[in-house]
Amino acid sequence: MGKRQLKLGANLSGVGNSISFWRHPDVPIRASVSLDYYKKQAFKAEEGKFDLLFIADGLFINEKSNPHFLNRFEPLTLLSALASVTSNVGLVATVSTSYSEPFTVARQFASIDHLSGGRAGWNVVTSPLEGSALNFGKGDHPDHALRYEIAEEHLAVVRGLWDSWEDDAFIGDKTNGVFFDPAKLHVLNHQGKHFSVRGPLNVARSRQGYPVVFQAGSSEAGKELAAKSADAVYTAHETFEEAREFYRDVKSRAAKYGRKPEEILIFPGIGPIVGRTEEEAERKYREIAELVTIEQALSYLGRYFDHFDFSKFPLDEPFPDIGNLGSNSFRSTTDKIKREAREQGLTLRQAAIRASTPTSFIGTPEKVADLMEQWFEGGAADGFNVRTVVPNGLTDFVDSVVPILQRRGLFRTEYESDTLRGNLGLTVPRNRYAPESNPVG
Ligand SMILES: Cc1cc2nc3c(=O)[nH]c(=O)nc-3n(C[C@H](O)[C@H](O)[C@H](O)COP(=O)(O)O)c2cc1C
Repeated sequence: MGKRQLKLGANLSGVGNSISFWRHPDVPIRASVSLDYYKKQAFKAEEGKFDLLFIADGLFINEKSNPHFLNRFEPLTLLSALASVTSNVGLVATVSTSYSEPFTVARQFASIDHLSGGRAGWNVVTSPLEGSALNFGKGDHPDHALRYEIAEEHLAVVRGLWDSWEDDAFIGDKTNGVFFDPAKLHVLNHQGKHFSVRGPLNVARSRQGYPVVFQAGSSEAGKELAAKSADAVYTAHETFEEAREFYRDVKSRAAKYGRKPEEILIFPGIGPIVGRTEEEAERKYREIAELVTIEQALSYLGRYFDHFDFSKFPLDEPFPDIGNLGSNSFRSTTDKIKREAREQGLTLRQAAIRASTPTSFIGTPEKVADLMEQWFEGGAADGFNVRTVVPNGLTDFVDSVVPILQRRGLFRTEYESDTLRGNLGLTVPRNRYAPESNPVG
């Protein structure tokens, strides 16, 4: 293994994750449903030697949802289109384990993995929004603990199905008419509490063995699932200390599952705002922040609490006591918002603006590179999930910050591999049915 280098993901989100980004004159209004827009972002990320593109997803909207969530492509459909126009960058899509069938999910990701020559990744989420249940006719939204129990079984079934065919099962012997070796085909016959899946999967095993598994939960249950089953973890921490605490916490849990800490990569999410000068960067931030109305900031805050309506509380009074609201949706996020408001004596207005206009990694390219180096070398990150929070944010980052990271030897100048697992430095998992003597992959 060469020198440890940081990994980069581009969180592509059309008109943006923030509530006001779309209002900026430079943002195309239909960006979230424009293949051309996504292609341009993908090409820029690949030019910057990024490890992956990440497409988030949600299964419930209402009139208060963020503009990007109201009208966007389904992630796997979008990634299959991007797979055909890219060659090195990984393709990571979010799919919920609470509202999908393991057989279908295994098939979809294995197909993207073959279509892309081994660049697929799955961001496993449990769907924090309770309204999701209304779109699937499956009764009440499972509670937090049950969602993670379902996620664990769902993921185990999907991986079992990805092992249906051994790497060399398909012989294709035309002379003797032997298409495959039946001894290398395996029936899963899973009978579990939440799923009953016979298998085998009707797609061969990919070059990566398994698509790379990401996970994005940060609660106690989320961290346990990550330590047990994730190749990589997305997280959202504003400060170095918080990120380092989370990093150490998740990695320290690996051993009890027979894993090494380096088998789990931690990707904090950042929204870098880069300017040639500090002032220019600050100006770019203010341009976006000033587009957010307080009503929009309250909606944005409310979404984490399952679209709770905060508008009935006085804005400039202390953050209201809302009990354990949020613990069944974005648990770690809402716990953090409530804790910070209490500890720092924030008013409702301050908490809403903080949630809707995050302020980390703002400055000159050198300053942003310094912060990333501090988190990477300081044991708070193995990589970063880069969000675009200002127009041309990804272009600014690739053109001005990536060259600095490369000069410092912190980031690759050429791709090491043509698979996502290869570029992330992750091993190809062995097929559970294959004899130990078989070479992996
Ligand atoms: C970087 C990042 C990306 C996420 N992407 C998604 C997503 O695409 N879809 C989704 O439903 N939840 C997404 N989440 C939310 C998580 O799935 C999870 O619900 C949230 O982090 C709360 O997890 P917890 O209940 O374990 O604390 C994301 C979270 C983070 C930090």
